[in-house]
Amino acid sequence: MTAIDNRRVDAYDKVTGRTVYGADRVPEGVAHAMFATAHVGKGRIVSIDTAAAEAVPGVRLVVTRFEPGELAEGSFIMGGGYGFQSFQPLLGDRVAYRGQPIALVVADTLVAATEAADLVTAEYEPEPFAVGLDAEGAETVVQEEAIPLPFLADIKVGDADAAFEASPVRIEGTYEHAPQHQVPMELISSVVEWRGDTVVVHEGTQNAGALRGGLARQLGIDPANVEIRSPYLGGGFGQKNSLQPHLGPLAVVSRRLGRPVKLVLPRPQTFHAASFRPTTRHTVRLGADASGRLLAAVHEVDQQTSRHDLFPCTATEITSRLYGVPAFRGRQRLVRTDVQTPGYMRAPFESPAAFAFESSIDELAYATGQDPVALRLANDTALDPVTGKPFSSRHLAECLRRGAERFGWAERNPEPGSMVAPDGSTIGWGVAAGAYPCNVAPAVAHLSATADGKVTVSVDGHEMGQGIRSAIALTVARDLGIPVADVVVVVGDTRVAPQHLTAGSWGTATALPAVQSGLIELRKHLNAAASGDVDVAACVAAVGGPVEVEVNTLPEMLERSRAGLVAIAGPEFGEFSSFSWIAHFVEVRIEAGTRRIRVPRVVSVADCGRVASPVTAAGQVRGAVVWGIGAALREESEVDERFGGFLNPTLEEYPVPVNADVHSIDVDFVDEPDPLFNAAGVKGLGEVAMVGVAAAIANAVHHATGRRPRRLPIRLEHVL
Ligand code: MOS
Repeated sequence: MTAIDNRRVDAYDKVTGRTVYGADRVPEGVAHAMFATAHVGKGRIVSIDTAAAEAVPGVRLVVTRFEPGELAEGSFIMGGGYGFQSFQPLLGDRVAYRGQPIALVVADTLVAATEAADLVTAEYEPEPFAVGLDAEGAETVVQEEAIPLPFLADIKVGDADAAFEASPVRIEGTYEHAPQHQVPMELISSVVEWRGDTVVVHEGTQNAGALRGGLARQLGIDPANVEIRSPYLGGGFGQKNSLQPHLGPLAVVSRRLGRPVKLVLPRPQTFHAASFRPTTRHTVRLGADASGRLLAAVHEVDQQTSRHDLFPCTATEITSRLYGVPAFRGRQRLVRTDVQTPGYMRAPFESPAAFAFESSIDELAYATGQDPVALRLANDTALDPVTGKPFSSRHLAECLRRGAERFGWAERNPEPGSMVAPDGSTIGWGVAAGAYPCNVAPAVAHLSATADGKVTVSVDGHEMGQGIRSAIALTVARDLGIPVADVVVVVGDTRVAPQHLTAGSWGTATALPAVQSGLIELRKHLNAAASGDVDVAACVAAVGGPVEVEVNTLPEMLERSRAGLVAIAGPEFGEFSSFSWIAHFVEVRIEAGTRRIRVPRVVSVADCGRVASPVTAAGQVRGAVVWGIGAALREESEVDERFGGFLNPTLEEYPVPVNADVHSIDVDFVDEPDPLFNAAGVKGLGEVAMVGVAAAIANAVHHATGRRPRRLPIRLEHVL
């Protein structure tokens, strides 16, 4: 068996600047677009003055409203559509939220487009608006009543409220989580060009299929005449998981002008032009016996949504599965506010849910005098408490034991504030567990072997930095015993495969089983043995020419995927349910004078099934821990009821962790395949890796200070 080079396959191109992202393209004659945006929190546009903008030299077009015949309303991905929200700006006089586009300028240069967009002025008839959960005019609905779909219903196992009341030990707490934005390095951007009747879009997206289906629908053209190319994203994190409202307008003006058009949203506009993590409030009640054995859990969540869409919440899906609790009640309510529709941001519900729930578990450990690791182990379960059926795999206990060992947890003095560093900083050690549902989408894989010995794999999937190209290339190289450099991976291109949404940590589990079954077919057509190394060039020569095979998985869902619609299964699969698991151990140090909170070390041990690509998998976990540090200590999209919108829409004012905030992150994997979940034995990793990090930090802050953090991010003033 040939030794396989495990490194990230696109690392060299990335660090040498060869990777071409969506808006890196500069087609001949390209024009530049820029939006002017609304400066009120809500209302109606009375008039717009575009004269000054049109007078800027080089300006070709200023559009304040598109005709219904040339651009249709949007459609919401969670309502069976394509876009992050149903509301399409530039179709009427309505301002639904601050920062919404009110005019689109196209010019010969970016400078002219930017200057002209700044010169657009509008008069508004302002209306009262609500941007917080408790604001006057915010409207709260019960999710299961507003959206009657089984997976969005309250979770009810036994009579949790009665069991809570009857429990000898009762813990109750309310936790708040700030709204946040994904701020990927690559800004939201597109280059659009028409080639005859076909519109070609270059855009970093996690969902080329939705862009294709949604743009065709909005323009009233055949999806066959839409090509989306998204070979790489400079970060997605959920922000780029559907059709954005800039794309339809861009395609229309490109067609009107007969020129390619490029749009790169400035960073501040991305805070209002795309989805974000909505603010949430969680109330958790835990009932237990005197030894800390859980008897009941209740988890109620209020989650912000927009006025025009109901963005559903599934926070209790994981909190109902973390432990073997005999009675559980989970409820989600949605609060309509005047913002763009919120959406998915890495571990969208699970990270805030784990902050609330795992803080409560820590509180229970203190209330019962139990060690927080021992308490979690004592409440472990092999059965899904919601369905009563087994988990396809669950190695959470192994994650906890191994993590405790690597961290040195046995040395912990549980007394809050008892551990002090030589420089006077208070030391806090915290632990938390995490889980994330395993979903899977249908995939088409096309494999070809050529005379030069190379194998090209074209498959459903998007490379946003998580390493799907590496996982695919390593799978093929390992199977055939060929160099990784001889595997060509094509993803994110609607010309080669449907390109279902890559999100929800289902990318690897979606692509790899398709690639594996493609390899079985390829071996047959090459007249190669069913296993062992293959001399691809010799086989191609022997069969007299290149070999091509195409396979697909989950055929019953393929038509939805081909249409660009979400088509996923899981985490409940008939006889079992599937989740990924993780345990995080965190040390914080709180400086004596400044009360600055540092995170010198984190140990994370994950159960993501078989580890398909060890280098990129470890990178995923380290990145997710950095995200957890951001969630716990830094990131908040500031909201002011007087103004609407988000007030800190820059990287200066929306602080993400920097290198100085990130120290030792020690990553380990259980690496046990889950063959029940899929033939490749892989589960998801990108999101579970973040779940519980913020909770472990909050628990460590409690250990250092004796104060229980109830709101994220934790600020200096909370530990004074
Ligand atoms: Mo991810 S937040 O599921 O794109």
